[in-house]
Amino acid sequence: MQTVSVNLGQRSYAIELGEGLLSRVGEILKARGIGGRVGIVSNPPVADLYGEEVRESLRRAGYETALVLIPEGEAHKDTASLGLIYDALVEQRFDRSATLIALGGGVIGDVTGFAAATFLRGIDYVQIPTTLLAQVDASVGGKTAVNHHQGKNLIGAFHQPRLVVIDLNTLRTLPPREFAAGMAEVIKHGIIEDAGFFGFLEERMDSLLSLDAAAVESAVAASCRIKAAVVEQDEREDDRRAILNFGHTIGHALESFTGYERFLHGEAVAIGMIQAAVLSAGRGLCSAAELGRIEALVRSAGLPWRIPGDIALEDLVAGMALDKKSQAGKIRFVLCEGIGRTRFQWFSPAEIVRELAPGP
Ligand code: NAD
Ligand code: GLY
Repeated sequence: MQTVSVNLGQRSYAIELGEGLLSRVGEILKARGIGGRVGIVSNPPVADLYGEEVRESLRRAGYETALVLIPEGEAHKDTASLGLIYDALVEQRFDRSATLIALGGGVIGDVTGFAAATFLRGIDYVQIPTTLLAQVDASVGGKTAVNHHQGKNLIGAFHQPRLVVIDLNTLRTLPPREFAAGMAEVIKHGIIEDAGFFGFLEERMDSLLSLDAAAVESAVAASCRIKAAVVEQDEREDDRRAILNFGHTIGHALESFTGYERFLHGEAVAIGMIQAAVLSAGRGLCSAAELGRIEALVRSAGLPWRIPGDIALEDLVAGMALDKKSQAGKIRFVLCEGIGRTRFQWFSPAEIVRELAPGP
C-alpha cells in the first residue's frame, strides 16, 4: 500500500492505494479516526461485485452500515438519485457524525460527494473509486455535482473527501473500453505536467493494458500525485486548476453534440487532447514530433483519436462559442508547450476551424 497526500490545510486527506484494500477498508477508516455510522452509496452492478466485501470489512471494524443503491449510469447522476440518498439517510436517522462512502465510478463519486456536501449542511465522505477514471481523476480534488437536464454538472459544490481508498484489483472487472477511457486522463496528466511520466506511459502502455500490477500502481499513483499538486495550488479553479481541462474543450463539445451516447467521457477527451495538440503545434508551442508522440500514445491505448468525418467542425465549434465559459464569443483553450507544460490561449470560432485538422 502507498499513500499520496493532498495538502489543503484543514481539508487535507490521504489517498491510500494498493491491491486488496477493499477487505481492509474498516481498519483503514478506523486508523484515520473516521467515526459514526457509514452509508455506502453504490449502484447495483458495483454493489454486487464489491458491496459485501466492503460492508463485511466495516462490520469487522465495528461500524454500523447501511447500503443505498442508485440506478446505474450517467443518466442517473441527477437530483432524483440525490433524493434517494437523502431519503435513506433521513429514514435511518443519520446524524452529523455519519460518513458516506462512494463505492463506484465517477458518477457514484460525484453524486455521493454532493449528497455529503449538503446533507445536514455537510458531512464527511470517503471515496472508494472502482473505475480507472475515478481513481486517477474524479475521486481526487473535491468537485462534486449532479447534472441538470440542460447541462452536465450544473448543480454542485466543492467538498473534499476525508479519505480516498483505491483498490487496484477492482480494475480487473472493469470492461476494457472503460479502462481505456480512464487511460485518457492518465495520458493527460503526463502531457500537462510531467514529461518523464509521459515517457513511462510510452514504454509501458502494453503492460498497463494487460493490467500489470506494478505498472498500473505506478500510473495511478503518479496521476494522483499530479492531480493533487494542481488542486493544492488552486483548489477552487480560480485559474491554474483549469489546466486539468486539457482536451476537454473539444471533448465536451463532442460529448454534447452526440447526446452523450457515442463517446465515453475519456474517449471524447482523447480526441480533444490531440486536437488541442494540433492547435499547439500550429501556434509553434509544441513540435510536430511532440504532436506525433501524443497522437501515437493515445492510439496505443486503443482510444479514438480523430473527430469522426460525419461531424462538421463548424457545428462543434458553434456549440463551444455558446458555452458559459466562453467570453465575447472567444473560447479559452489549454495548449501544451511541449510535453509537460501548458499555457492558456483564446481562440475565435473561425480560428479554431481554420487551425484544426479536418477529420478523415
Ligand atoms: P461511471 O461512474 O459511469 O462508471 C462506468 C461504468 O463502469 C458504470 O457502468 C459502472 O457501473 C461500471 N463500473 C464501475 N466500477 C466497475 C468495476 N470495478 N467493474 C465493473 N464495472 C464497473 O463512469 P466513470 O468514467 O467512472 O465516471 C464518469 C463520471 O465522472 C462523469 O459523470 C464525470 O462528469 C465525472 N467526473 C468527475 C470528475 C471530478 O473531478 N469530480 C472528474 C472527471 C469525471
Ligand atoms: N476534472 C477536472 C478537475 O477536477 O478540476
